[in-house]
Amino acid sequence: MKHLFKLAAIAVLSILPLSLDAQPANPYELPDPLLMENGKIVRNKNQWIKERRPEIMEMLRSQMFGREPGADAVPDMHFKVIEESHDALGGLATRKQVKISFDKNEKYYLMLLMYVPNDKKGPVPAFLGANFKGNHATTDDPEVLMFTPEKIATFAPGYVVEPRATNAHRWPYEYIIKNGYAVATYCYHDVDPDFHDGFHNGIHQLIDGDKPRNGESWGSISAWAWGLSRCMDYLETDKDINSKKVAVIGHSRLGKTSLWAGATDQRFALVISNESGCSGAAIARRKFGETLQAINRNFPHWFCDNYKAYNGREEKMPWDQHELIAMIAPRPVYVASAIEDTWADPVGEYFSLVGATSVYNLFGYDGITSHEFPAVEHPVSVGRMGYHVRRGAHNTLLYDWEQFIPFADRFLK
Ligand code: GCU
Repeated sequence: MKHLFKLAAIAVLSILPLSLDAQPANPYELPDPLLMENGKIVRNKNQWIKERRPEIMEMLRSQMFGREPGADAVPDMHFKVIEESHDALGGLATRKQVKISFDKNEKYYLMLLMYVPNDKKGPVPAFLGANFKGNHATTDDPEVLMFTPEKIATFAPGYVVEPRATNAHRWPYEYIIKNGYAVATYCYHDVDPDFHDGFHNGIHQLIDGDKPRNGESWGSISAWAWGLSRCMDYLETDKDINSKKVAVIGHSRLGKTSLWAGATDQRFALVISNESGCSGAAIARRKFGETLQAINRNFPHWFCDNYKAYNGREEKMPWDQHELIAMIAPRPVYVASAIEDTWADPVGEYFSLVGATSVYNLFGYDGITSHEFPAVEHPVSVGRMGYHVRRGAHNTLLYDWEQFIPFADRFLK
């Protein structure tokens, strides 16, 4: 098994376009996800579920993302639909804006923006993902609420609110609705503003107060994933949504977040990582593009402190990112890359799927096994895994959604 990956790494180098092989990746040996800490090999799905999966989850919690609380950490959580219109997107959809408050006083909250197709019979499947620049930046719909001044006061000093629709290209709402899905999103700053403030604001402050932090204390990615789970808590109460058919999706740092949300919360029926790169889908041992040292230096608040011990020592990690993918098994998983997005290491993103396939096989499902990196814009879908690399740079484009939706249709329709 290990040798196979070493060979694969070398073989891949010879078939890549220039932009990718300009910086040779290290030959690497991946840990075998089926090898238990006691040296035995997992033989069946029950052993995986009861013994091996918890071992890997423990590694990911204690060494990477930190230990996340549950919903019980916010006993005063409550939901209010504060705005609803049946005439959104030119009559195609019902828009809801739901305030998910984590404390009685509603000081700590996230605002969930939803569009639900009007043309539906019964509850519909949905995509749920966090967004970067505010709900108002995902659409030109003038009714979408902006951040309040109190909210903005919690963001990074000097934070500039983006105009409406800045990121609308990443959220093709009409296309999603016309395909029979609801879509829901919240801005990640709502749960934990994305800057290193020593965890004095955001959800860490509400839940942990001034309790001293340690090497396993949860970071921001874990908090954003926790926020997605709280959105799921709401979706379970919304009669328009089939909560057994919710796909969690994210781009880049929020793709790392969707993978961790899918790992920690098995209510998500399908998981999509778009260009999640380092500490998302990309194999760390390749040290191609962004490295652990770079990510921990530039974003010291994203992961738990123990993770920093692996800076420059990726080969010492007792896991690699294919095992994060394996945490999603047997649920379907889709990983997407862009060929110019070398910082996120498209090849490493692809190979984490290959590395997780043995776990899907335990459940009787196929996964991706080919060691040949797919051609640009030739999506690959095998069993419960999908992958594509599109032309262009780091972004989420309509092309990406045009691949996600048919993949999701196979499992959620
Ligand atoms: C930076 C960071 C990446 C991250 C990306 C993003 O480039 O280095 O790890 O994925 O931001 O979130 O857009």
